[in-house]
Amino acid sequence: MKNIILCGFMGCGKTTVGENLKKKSGMNLIDTDAYIEETEGMTISKIFEKYGESYFRDLEYKACKELSKKSGIIISTGGGALTFQRNVDVLKENGTIVLIDVPLEVLKERLKNDTTRPLLQRPDKDKAMKELYEKRMPLYKNASDVVINGDNSPLKVASDILN
Ligand code: S3P
Repeated sequence: MKNIILCGFMGCGKTTVGENLKKKSGMNLIDTDAYIEETEGMTISKIFEKYGESYFRDLEYKACKELSKKSGIIISTGGGALTFQRNVDVLKENGTIVLIDVPLEVLKERLKNDTTRPLLQRPDKDKAMKELYEKRMPLYKNASDVVINGDNSPLKVASDILN
């Protein structure tokens, strides 16, 4: 059975939608960020701070490769994961990629007080989010097999994915 891969920008709800999907479907859920934090014994923020982004991207690729060997699970990815073709390639081998599509203005509101995402800890956060969003959306769309409207409750988004 194929995996369900959740894809989308930071704050689109991949983790909470994943938890709702897990409850509804009985499938296991693994979050790539949680997997990396567990295997490295360090938070994502600490990994960025100590080793930098490209080191994190290599860990993310390793996680995608490992997790793609499983089947019938939900894989919730970090917001940058599916902007790298090498991750798309391994995850697609045994998975359907679902983009949770949320408008930029909604994401800005959801992330305005966030302190956990290293890429957003900067004074020009709104501008940085806009640039990243515009750069990433076409990549997400290209990578995904299905696009779901994510501007709804996590429960509704999870039902839409299962349907
Ligand atoms: C990132 C998103 C984060 C995490 C890391 C980098 C990104 O995951 O992987 O901070 O590049 O968009 P979430 O999308 O779960 O916040």
